[in-house]
Amino acid sequence: MIATIISDVKKHYPVLLNELVSIITPQYGGTFIDCTFGQGGYTKKILDFKETKVIGIDRDIESSKRAEEIEKKFKDRFIFKNIKFSQINNLKLKNVNVKGVIFDLGYSYTQIKDPKKGLSFESVGDLNMKLGLNNFSAKNVINSLEEKELEQIFKYFGEEKESKRIAHNIVQDRKLHKITTEELVRIIESSKRKKNYKTHSATKVFQALRIFVNKEISELINGLINATKVIKKDGIIAVVTFHSLEDRIVKYFFKSLSENKSISRYMPKNNEKINILKLINKKPIIPSKKEIYENPPSRSAKLRYAIKQENCYEFETDIFDKFKDLIEIENFSKKL
Ligand SMILES: C[S@@+](CC[C@H](N)C(=O)[O-])C[C@H]1O[C@@H](n2cnc3c(N)ncnc32)[C@H](O)[C@@H]1O
Repeated sequence: MIATIISDVKKHYPVLLNELVSIITPQYGGTFIDCTFGQGGYTKKILDFKETKVIGIDRDIESSKRAEEIEKKFKDRFIFKNIKFSQINNLKLKNVNVKGVIFDLGYSYTQIKDPKKGLSFESVGDLNMKLGLNNFSAKNVINSLEEKELEQIFKYFGEEKESKRIAHNIVQDRKLHKITTEELVRIIESSKRKKNYKTHSATKVFQALRIFVNKEISELINGLINATKVIKKDGIIAVVTFHSLEDRIVKYFFKSLSENKSISRYMPKNNEKINILKLINKKPIIPSKKEIYENPPSRSAKLRYAIKQENCYEFETDIFDKFKDLIEIENFSKKL
């Protein structure tokens, strides 16, 4: 899940950076949207090429500190917006020729280590997990949702095998105690019948809660749809994912819009179906052995990209239908 690691705390490793650059080719200039600005690793690399401009986006206001430093250095070539990437279609980019939209999903090491965010099972105190611009926290989820709902979140967003027992024990425990991060970890550990010595017992439940609290499924789907709308013909969408749920969504979206299924709402006169996107590689690009050695959390990264084939800004997609089970689970949050 962790996209970026800092082995000596001051060093920052943007994942698959060289591979990304070879796809989006900033050496030929152009305007790019970095949908997950984070520590500015990708943005900085793009701006090192003279004829480029970057719009950096991050839902976490903490990123604006790093953005200010970059803004000072690249005054006319960089702006930062503290918005969610599902909203890039509101950026008023009609007259901008956006050459590439990039996503590096997940969280940075800085965020995972921030005790206020409570993203990690090593955190202490109140449950939180909000990345920014959220309506509810993990504390609300754990203390308010029904047992069956918690079970489904852990099962489908975390692929947690003991989801039923964990959800049951949470609901029993919350009648007696306030559930803090430490208490949740204790409940998960005591609910597990089999110990896994490779990963921490709480890894999957924490992943599930982070996905739920940040509505990552609908964020990603809307982000992909709106990225496809804002780029012009020959523009590129590139996405780095870190777990199978994200990768399945990206894979399906690119495949479905590149396989004679995508239909523009404004059909060409001859009523032909048009493919909005084109895929160059069917398989994702993964980090080299060297990158994994230098930055072990990069081992789960997958980079997929697609190229826009037509100047078409309205199109139909069945992606919400395809992932409706996950969206239904996300909608449990409506009552929070
Ligand atoms: C893995 S980090 C990106 C690191 C960045 N590529 C770099 O090199 O510094 C992911 C970033 O995306 C942000 N993020 C996650 N979901 C988002 C969303 N829906 N909208 C905007 N930003 C989001 C997180 O706050 C985090 O800062």
